[in-house]
Amino acid sequence: MNKQTILVTGGAGYIGSHACVELLQAGFEVVVVDNLANSKLESLDRVRQITGQNVRFYQADIRDKSALTAVFNQHDIHTVIHFAGLKAVGESCQQPLHYYHNNVYGTLVLLEVMAEANIKQLVFSSSATVYGESDSPQYSEHFPLGPINPYGRSKAMIEDILRDLAAADSINQSSSPWKMALLRYFNPIGAHESGLIGEDPNGIPNNLMPYVSQVAIGKLPRVSIFGDDYPTRDGTGVRDYIHVVDLVKGHIKAIDTLQGDAFRQGGCKAYNLGVGRGCSVLEIINTFEKVTGRKVPYNISPRRAGDLAECYANPELALKELQWQAEKNLEAMVADAWRWQSMNPDGYVR
Ligand code: NAD
Ligand code: UD1
Repeated sequence: MNKQTILVTGGAGYIGSHACVELLQAGFEVVVVDNLANSKLESLDRVRQITGQNVRFYQADIRDKSALTAVFNQHDIHTVIHFAGLKAVGESCQQPLHYYHNNVYGTLVLLEVMAEANIKQLVFSSSATVYGESDSPQYSEHFPLGPINPYGRSKAMIEDILRDLAAADSINQSSSPWKMALLRYFNPIGAHESGLIGEDPNGIPNNLMPYVSQVAIGKLPRVSIFGDDYPTRDGTGVRDYIHVVDLVKGHIKAIDTLQGDAFRQGGCKAYNLGVGRGCSVLEIINTFEKVTGRKVPYNISPRRAGDLAECYANPELALKELQWQAEKNLEAMVADAWRWQSMNPDGYVR
């Protein structure tokens, strides 16, 4: 049987490069479209080192309709996994138009090209950030949405567009309906166990785990803990950290599910991808020190605007319908993040 070809937008990035490895190892052909706005090509060389296989790479912007159309004409694409997007919350508040143009308009162009090519199977990178305020810290998919910054709103808008597409199919009784999984990631951390690929943030990291790694290796002096007076077990913020390799395995399960009976008539469904347990900032720092034997100095700073006290997934729907659950524990996430950081102190060089 011919291998199925998966188009991975944003495939040179942090999560995308890990997805390329798992897809190749699961027997798929992989085509990557990435404009390298937030990544380096070396990530895909490393994917080749890990797997012994090549991906087809196109340096292109998903907003460039003719470039994208050419890729669809060149390859027999079966499913698209859509990672391409900008993701820095603070930057999205400073440059909202840039974020909406890149994320929302970029997705519209991708969907138009897919529709024209009659390729209607899509796995979309959404985020737990689409959820609104809630009485419970454990978020289920039916909870109300209400993102509070332009980045989060760009994800929620894309989710709406995808649900509208599925709804239009049922009105039009389309013979080849859209099949779409919206995967709401909690907090992906860690790296491939080889230490060859990992998260390579530009400048000073915004997110906790890369910040802690850079303190441990001596590039930054100390971690600022954003608040120790939250109503949590030790006063610091609690999140659901998930190993990036577990996360990308969820995408392969989603592809399987979209091809099965549950999506025979088409549809668009959201799934949380998280471990289902929360972990505090202090627990992360303590685990990091224990696993790596390095000191991670920290101080307590004021709360960061827009942060919740506690947020973790109810991952039951993904278990029931995707047959997926996270397997790796916090020690493995930290050990793998540290291996990547210590083998690549300056990230990718080219
Ligand atoms: P990343 O920045 O490492 O990867 C995104 C990739 O998309 C980059 O390689 C970038 O160059 C590319 N890209 C951006 N805009 C593009 C465009 N217009 N055309 C072509 N390529 C473009 O980020 P990541 O952490 O791998 O995240 C992947 C996806 O998952 C993003 O959509 C992000 O919003 C989402 N997500 C990430 C997290 C997280 O914590 N990392 C959490 C929730 C959701
Ligand atoms: C952030 C984004 C979210 C995005 C997610 C993954 C904000 C408000 N939210 O979520 O939209 O989907 O990243 O990319 O930016 N912390 C510190 N010191 C630090 C960094 C973080 O104490 O230097 C704390 C935070 O207050 C939080 C926890 O660590 O309690 C995790 O923070 P972070 O890694 O930035 O993730 P989120 O805030 O969950």
